[in-house]
Amino acid sequence: MPTYLSGIQPSGLQHIGNYFGAIRQHIALQEEAGEHFYFIADFHALTSVRDPEELRTYTRETAVAYLALGLDPEKAVLWRQSDVPEVHEIAWLLATQCGMGLLERAHSYKDKTAQGIKPSVGLFTYPILMAADILAYDSTHVPVGKDQVQHLEMTQDMAGYFNNHYGEVFVRPECLLASTKQAQKVVGLDGQKMSKSYGNTIWIFEEGKKLKKIINKIVTDSRPPEEPKNPDELFLFDTMSLFMEADKVNEWKEKVRAGGEGAPGYGHLKGAIYEAMEAYFAPARERRKELLADPAEVDRILAAGAEKARARACEVRARAFTACGLR
Ligand code: ADP
Ligand code: TRP
Repeated sequence: MPTYLSGIQPSGLQHIGNYFGAIRQHIALQEEAGEHFYFIADFHALTSVRDPEELRTYTRETAVAYLALGLDPEKAVLWRQSDVPEVHEIAWLLATQCGMGLLERAHSYKDKTAQGIKPSVGLFTYPILMAADILAYDSTHVPVGKDQVQHLEMTQDMAGYFNNHYGEVFVRPECLLASTKQAQKVVGLDGQKMSKSYGNTIWIFEEGKKLKKIINKIVTDSRPPEEPKNPDELFLFDTMSLFMEADKVNEWKEKVRAGGEGAPGYGHLKGAIYEAMEAYFAPARERRKELLADPAEVDRILAAGAEKARARACEVRARAFTACGLR
């Protein structure tokens, strides 16, 4: 039986790129036969979030986002990474086998330090902790975005180093890459990939006037509505496609292509995106509010998740300790 596992960093409020690129796939998988493990990677977020109140808020908001967007705690285990300290013990075992060269080749360390994140030892060794996150639960399938593929390959390598030396202890996981265009790259307000670090995000639960204002920030040019345009060159339509059926999007595209009297201007198109997004997340927005009003319920779900996750991590740790002579 497959064991699906993934983690998401509470390094900010989750945006629609995180939703279409990761969260949606995680939640959809709970319908597949197998076990489902999802955790809030708060240890990892410490590499970039230095304010304790912020970390607490983002951690809660991330858990609430998963639940509001449809994660069912009866089907999937949801917990906070820091509630399972055994991952650090497993990370140490992997660290003793992992060569420096492997970490030195990691793109994410270079990318993140280039964005101004402190080049801490924690950030450098992050792939080891991530490998432990995966191997600690005997995960077989790890749904992640393209940017995490290298980390998955490093996890496979680390499992291999350990197993070659000590015998078959860790299960070698497979990477599950979402194949749709949306899942691979949601564009931000400026047409670049949407990312917390580029300040071009739309928060999943934004609503009303604020949402309208943000959508109005999508970058366009100053051509007038009547000028015919090639809709494929307007990334505005990529955002529209996230929330609207393809035939509706095509109707808008045709009007833009035709131009002339009565053709929609950019403001008009942004208004349509606003309405579609507002409606798309309306039920989840309401559930988020209910969950935030009942923090004890969220705590109960996370505690129950941590208990199940920890039981598995303890089994795997025992196997690994025995194999390498610690017991
Ligand atoms: P950010 O770039 O905002 O810090 P993360 O690196 O924390 O986002 O990404 C968390 C998950 O969301 C990853 O699996 C990543 O692939 C996915 N993701 C992030 N941004 C996008 C995007 N713009 N399009 C598609 N997926 C994304
Ligand atoms: N590194 C992942 C990210 O930044 C988050 C993460 C941490 C993760 N541990 C994991 C993802 C284990 C999958 C499996 O998005």
